[in-house]
Amino acid sequence: RPFAHPDPSSPLACDGVSLETLAKKFGTPLYTYSAGQILHRLRLFTSAFASIPHLVCYSVKANSALAILKLLDQHGAGFDIVSGGELERILRVNKQAAERVVFSGVGKTAAEIDLALRSGILIFNVESAAELDLLAERASKLRKRARVALRVNPDVFAETHPYISTGLREHKFGIDIRQARAVYKLAAKQKYLDPCGASVHIGSQIRSADPFGAAAERVAQLIRDLRSDGLAITSVDVGGGLGIEYHSDHSFNPEEKIHQYATALLKSLRPIENLRLLLEPGRFIVAQAGALLTRVLYVKKNGEKTFVVTDAAMNDLIRPALYQAHHDIVPVMPRKGARKKVVDVVGPVCETGDFFARDRELPELKPGDLVAILDAGAYGLSLSSNYNSRPRPAEVLVEGKRARLIRRRETMDDLFAPEQI
Ligand code: LLP
Repeated sequence: RPFAHPDPSSPLACDGVSLETLAKKFGTPLYTYSAGQILHRLRLFTSAFASIPHLVCYSVKANSALAILKLLDQHGAGFDIVSGGELERILRVNKQAAERVVFSGVGKTAAEIDLALRSGILIFNVESAAELDLLAERASKLRKRARVALRVNPDVFAETHPYISTGLREHKFGIDIRQARAVYKLAAKQKYLDPCGASVHIGSQIRSADPFGAAAERVAQLIRDLRSDGLAITSVDVGGGLGIEYHSDHSFNPEEKIHQYATALLKSLRPIENLRLLLEPGRFIVAQAGALLTRVLYVKKNGEKTFVVTDAAMNDLIRPALYQAHHDIVPVMPRKGARKKVVDVVGPVCETGDFFARDRELPELKPGDLVAILDAGAYGLSLSSNYNSRPRPAEVLVEGKRARLIRRRETMDDLFAPEQI
């Protein structure tokens, strides 16, 4: 983890940059990311899949900060997008990067499809026959040939939170793998469609490699079938979803995880000749590179319970409230001989669900203390809101010994800009 104490008596740091200094300079709540860790995780992917032609298409939704997209672009990553907004982000960073973009999502609008066609993206991951019709219509209208993969639903169960599991027939995602061949035949008839890929994504925060292996096996069979139908399938997109360990006291070795993941996927995909692998990791690249830095406002007791109220809230990081997700919380400056206490760490938002931890044993905290909520680099700011009219936090990117503001704190003017009375 990039967040550590350089020595036991100094404050928690991100790659050697003190979080106390960052809080003083940029205020709290503050998202802090390590560029080094992000690039390290990207390299883990590229080396695990070195034995096969591949492109890592970072899933923009996990963390859409322009500076992070730029960093990944400069190191050769492609991008997985799900909206016109995400595509515009990539175009802002580097227009040429469009050729490394895969477009996923069940609800692409005509305007979004047009933008993607005009920018010349790599491939569309189409999720229904109806979407295929619209894509064919827009592509012929613009006279741009669209490369297409059908996102198939392999009906594979993967152990994760039900809100982020996607690979079962009952989920809204993809096309039933049993119907896929028929839909590919429709695609092949369209002059402006080039059905050249297959894609799958079974969910997020999946810790075992087995379901990925099972899905890959089913897609491998589909690719063989499609090739025997006469289609030139040359790419396979295996989606994202590789999970991390959010509890620091459990052992977690990212190198080993990714190795198991690659082994599971490649078992059935490497034997297929002439196939380029596309990967869409989000969380695995950015989650552990980021922390949400927050200051304790109050410590209060209600009955038997002690509540530590921080200046960050569920609008800044909603994962605990939405998925009962665990995030480790650590004091930035540990107090010598501090006693442990069982507390709830909560935000100022007017919802009982506004918590970061419940009944958690932590070193005693006092008003004014800084704490870091770890592993918040993925689905943190990208999933934030202005609920309770709270301006979003600022973001800094640490590169070596330097910390750079990559998003300023929102102001009241930002909050009201779109409104009129
Ligand atoms: N590809 C597709 C088509 C996806 O839908 C997703 C995530 C990814 C790739 C990236 O998945 P990852 O590698 O990050 O697991 N907000 C939730 C996670 C939602 C995931 C949505 N789709 C959370 O905070 O846990």
